[in-house]
Amino acid sequence: MLSRIRPLLLIALMTATITAQSTPKVLVYTATRGYRHDSIPTAIDVLGREAASHGVRFEFSEDPGLFTDSTLAGFDGVLFVSNSEEVLDHAGQAALQRFFQGGGVYAGVHSASACLYNDTTYLQAVGALFDYHPSLQEATFLPLDKTHPATAHLPDQWRYTEEVYYFRSDPRSVGATVLLTVDEASYKTWYIESPESAQPLREGAAKAGRSFYTSLGHLNSTWENSTFIQHIFGGLTWALEGASTRAYGQGLVGVTDNVTVSASASASGTASGTAASGSHAASPGASAAPSASGSAKPSSAAVPAAGVAALAVGAAVAGAAVVL
Ligand SMILES: *[C@@H]1O[C@H](CO)[C@@H](O)[C@H](O)[C@H]1NC(C)=O
Ligand SMILES: *[C@@H]1O[C@H](CO)[C@@H](O)[C@H](O)[C@H]1NC(C)=O
Ligand SMILES: *[C@@H]1O[C@H](CO)[C@@H](O)[C@H](O)[C@H]1NC(C)=O
Ligand SMILES: *[C@@H]1O[C@H](CO)[C@@H](O)[C@H](O)[C@H]1NC(C)=O
Repeated sequence: MLSRIRPLLLIALMTATITAQSTPKVLVYTATRGYRHDSIPTAIDVLGREAASHGVRFEFSEDPGLFTDSTLAGFDGVLFVSNSEEVLDHAGQAALQRFFQGGGVYAGVHSASACLYNDTTYLQAVGALFDYHPSLQEATFLPLDKTHPATAHLPDQWRYTEEVYYFRSDPRSVGATVLLTVDEASYKTWYIESPESAQPLREGAAKAGRSFYTSLGHLNSTWENSTFIQHIFGGLTWALEGASTRAYGQGLVGVTDNVTVSASASASGTASGTAASGSHAASPGASAAPSASGSAKPSSAAVPAAGVAALAVGAAVAGAAVVL
């Protein structure tokens, strides 16, 4: 009797184990040290509600103490949401870098690009860092690639109230593929400079791993919109399904020079009326974005290519040391 039963038990256990391992676990990090978006609680609430139906498990925290090798080892990815300024100390930044090198995935939303300005590893993960944005207003976002899960469902002209982000560098320069841009005639700006010419993707550089970033997500109403939520989860799960994702048992990051992935990116913008009005121009925080703060003119170095809104970066450099 026992001998008949055992095989069945084993099958059941194996199935359970496989199921558990294939649900990626992601640390959602919403820490801020400067400007704080009041949509953060909404983001946490909505992400928590939507996780299971998108096959992801989330743990939410604002504790920088979680950024250690041993704690990060329990996650497949990190999702930075609406952060500002120095949300990790040097030890935390180093642990995050090792996490990426070991196959951990990065995804970021909205002002996740307005923190850790001096951390070059973080820059490579996010693709580009926030510089400034025009005032909050309606703008029309344009998918450049509708084959990607983050953008496949979007209307050809996605118009709603959002901040249009301008970045300090072109995300293509770190291997990102820009998935979504903005119609620069669709909103008012207070500062315009010719965008840099698009830089070609770096060819030849080995890539492993994926990351995804979108500059969208300022308002509560956006977080409550299913089109936006699909955008976020499409990008996040695409990143998690990359060859480096530990949930899928590949573990290729740092080991191969053969993985090709494209990345991402996004947004653009110009800064708008704020400087003049003094109201809200650089909301991710003046200090986080020095260029946007006092003076009307942002740092010229920063003006990125035309806007980028959703960034998915393929990871990065490889060789031996992948720096995502
Ligand atoms: C956004 O939602 C949060 C609660 O999730 C609330 O505290 C905040 O006031 C809302 N912001 C606006 C502008 O309504
Ligand atoms: C970032 O680097 C700049 C230039 O080296 C320096 O002035 C600034 O203090 C640094 N910020 C942090 C938070 O380390
Ligand atoms: C979500 O946003 C899209 C595009 O802006 C809009 O067409 C749609 O009606 C919104 N959905 C809801 C439920 O508000
Ligand atoms: C590189 O990728 C190709 C195509 O996917 C595959 O056939 C080949 O085995 C890979 N090489 C290595 C060393 O992983």
